[in-house]
Amino acid sequence: MSTETIKIFDTTLRDGEQSPGASMNTEEKIQIAIQLEKLGVDIIEAGFAAASPGDFDAISKIAQRIENSTVCSLARAIDSDIKSAGESIAKAKNRRIHTFIATSSIHMEHKLKMTPDEVIKRAVRAVTYAREFVDDVEFSCEDAGRSDIGFMKDISDAVIEAGATTINLPDTVGFRLPYEIGEMVRIMSEYTKDRAIISVHNHNDLGLGVANSLEAVVNGARQVECTINGLGERAGNASLEEIVMALKVRGDIFKDLRTNINTKEIYPSSRLISNITGIEPQPNKAIVGKNAFAHESGIHQDGMLKNRETYEIMTPETIGLVKDDTLVLGKHSGRAAFRDKLAKLGFTLEDNALNKSFERFKIMADKKKEIFDDDLRALVTNEMTKAEQIYELISLQLMDFSEGTPSSVVKIRKDNQEIIDAGVGEGTIDAIFKTIERISGIESHLMDYKVKSVSKGKDALASVTVKVSFNEKEPVIIGHGLHIDTMLASARAYIGALNSYLSMEGKFKTKSD
Ligand code: KIV
Ligand code: ZN
Repeated sequence: MSTETIKIFDTTLRDGEQSPGASMNTEEKIQIAIQLEKLGVDIIEAGFAAASPGDFDAISKIAQRIENSTVCSLARAIDSDIKSAGESIAKAKNRRIHTFIATSSIHMEHKLKMTPDEVIKRAVRAVTYAREFVDDVEFSCEDAGRSDIGFMKDISDAVIEAGATTINLPDTVGFRLPYEIGEMVRIMSEYTKDRAIISVHNHNDLGLGVANSLEAVVNGARQVECTINGLGERAGNASLEEIVMALKVRGDIFKDLRTNINTKEIYPSSRLISNITGIEPQPNKAIVGKNAFAHESGIHQDGMLKNRETYEIMTPETIGLVKDDTLVLGKHSGRAAFRDKLAKLGFTLEDNALNKSFERFKIMADKKKEIFDDDLRALVTNEMTKAEQIYELISLQLMDFSEGTPSSVVKIRKDNQEIIDAGVGEGTIDAIFKTIERISGIESHLMDYKVKSVSKGKDALASVTVKVSFNEKEPVIIGHGLHIDTMLASARAYIGALNSYLSMEGKFKTKSD
């Protein structure tokens, strides 16, 4: 029997970005798209072009960078959305428009206020128009999980006739159990036969996103939509790494099915996404959680020493979690060794980015005795995803007392001019952020502040993530800062958010849109 390929459709940049607090700047999205291509995903859903000029801009830039994966842009079944989607991916080598409309009674009646016939007409119009831009059109029956199967057959007939090549059946609210999804997919794939590929998109509200996707594959789905680390609206989407590794590890069950994923890029992809979004997978998260390959009990450790297969169904190396101690970097390491090590960690940097990262590495190596792989990952990601440096921190001076008023003196460069100011606050962080606010003249609300150590040791790097609201009508902006000194990392994170905000200004979707 011949082998069939399950297409992996990654929607980390679209549905994943809909996770509360996971918005990303354009540079971050480009770096993620490049990594997804390395990972081998077949389709990258790069965003929702009509949502905002910022989304459109990021999708167009991704479309120009990506060579092998198909770049997809989402559109509601509305002409103006489809036009934006088509234009945003015009320069992509391989491009797809993904259009959708709800097909469940509850959505048609209460949200769309349309009859089923009107919904079919709108869907046909959308697919026909999308075909004016691209040959590859995906149509989604939003809320398929709660839709009437007879109606989904009718609308599928109509959109396939209009030119749709993939029919996606999302369990939008994560309501269905595996056997129900299996049944829906079996009926729909037997019905559409080779007229279209059947795809699934399972949300995780009951924690069944991955199980539902696997059951869909068994029953004929040949495309699965998913996200790295399971990010996504509400409880998230089915996680890419879990689906791919289940298909691989249980090849005895999923005989003759394969994906194009290079599993060694799973761990680097997961780290990149959590470094950028500041959202860490839970420690016991399957495949990529911090404890996924940790063996704590003595009995397990003993078994592992005798034969790894006693307690390990896959090796960490399969997902690219490699402890490479052959090349230890320190302050005497040169550029070549640095480049080599980054290549082993999966980073290929252009000269300019390499030089900047190397400079920062040298400063870090001067202060920090041991440099771990995670330190390098965090440093390079931070360097590569920086927004334009409109404000740049030159120095920070602090006074803090157990009794008294914390104060800070901040020196910043903007337009080649140095600006210095001082401020006080309830605490040190408050003093720093208030001083930067005074310098920039841009008011803000701090929505979240997180600090974590990147690796171990008292001299560990502090990674600070801030979520800042500069305008209540616009999305919260994320900023990252990295330094051995937590206060400096905090100042950098805040300035990072400010720079992201300014470089995206005028390109946001406002909350009232
Ligand atoms: O969950 C959903 O229904 C979606 C569609 C836009 C595919 O994200
Ligand atoms: Zn979704």
